[in-house]
Amino acid sequence: MSLEIKNLSKTFEEQDAVQPIPALQNITLSVNQGQFLSVIGPSGCGKTTLLRIIAGLEKASAGTVLINGALPERPWEHVGFVFQEYALFPWRTVIDNIAFGLEMKHMSKKERYTKAREYCKQFGIDGFEYCYPREISGGMRQRVAIARTLINDPTIVLMDEPFGALDSQTRSQLQTFLLQIWQRSQKTVLFITHSIDEAIFLSQHIIGLTRRPGSIGLSLPVDLAYPRDITSDEFNRYRREIIRFLNAQQNDEEYSSKASKIVTWYEYKRALC
Ligand SMILES: Nc1ncnc2c1ncn2[C@@H]1O[C@H](COP(=O)(O)OP(=O)(O)OP(=O)(O)O)[C@@H](O)[C@H]1O
Ligand SMILES: [Mg+2]
Repeated sequence: MSLEIKNLSKTFEEQDAVQPIPALQNITLSVNQGQFLSVIGPSGCGKTTLLRIIAGLEKASAGTVLINGALPERPWEHVGFVFQEYALFPWRTVIDNIAFGLEMKHMSKKERYTKAREYCKQFGIDGFEYCYPREISGGMRQRVAIARTLINDPTIVLMDEPFGALDSQTRSQLQTFLLQIWQRSQKTVLFITHSIDEAIFLSQHIIGLTRRPGSIGLSLPVDLAYPRDITSDEFNRYRREIIRFLNAQQNDEEYSSKASKIVTWYEYKRALC
């Protein structure tokens, strides 16, 4: 299924805000069926907000999100979301976390356990089915989170910095693993990351969002065959281009002084977490 975002903007109007917060501005973007597209951009530029709008968890202020050319009534039924933080249920075992979506669809315990066990095997977490999330490593927890999303067979997979909290070795293992899963399943993936190398290693296309309000400042097709060699000259050429773009987002003093004046109750709460 394809995803089409047209002229999407979002401004948060909060009661307690000093002023409304424009988070996204005029985003137009398509992700073709089976494409792997990454979004990169400075912190606070609206990446998570974009995914939340696509998933129907947040309303856009303007613009539309089309899934396979149509405006879905319940967008969350078409997408699978892997969140920025580990979002497993701590009171459920690995297998019950993975099978959660199937349970919601009233699949029998026997059937859902059979399916969840297959996923455990595929995702290299077999043997840990009856552990609780606190008993497994961070890398494994993220495998469980991805398995829990894919078992529902979503048409579009939204991933919000899924590997952000992992050490670099585990992260690179999971990147390779994710590529294998994606190549096998041919899902449409919209992936958010702060890591330039991760974006180049994984994606067929990279979108760079400007600082808030995020708008598209870079649209870069990545024309490299998989698997990609992060030490190659071609890889470095993409790296250089993205670094140049991201540096330009930081070096605007006018923005920094303006941004420091925008403090909302929401940001204050977020800073406390
Ligand atoms: N529910 C909300 N209410 C008010 N403001 C919000 C809300 N959600 C996000 N914002 C604001 O919108 C802007 C974009 O936030 P968002 O979380 O989308 O950024 P991000 O690009 O995902 O950042 P990061 O890279 O740090 O995860 C921020 O200024 C944030 O404070
Ligand atoms: Mg975010």
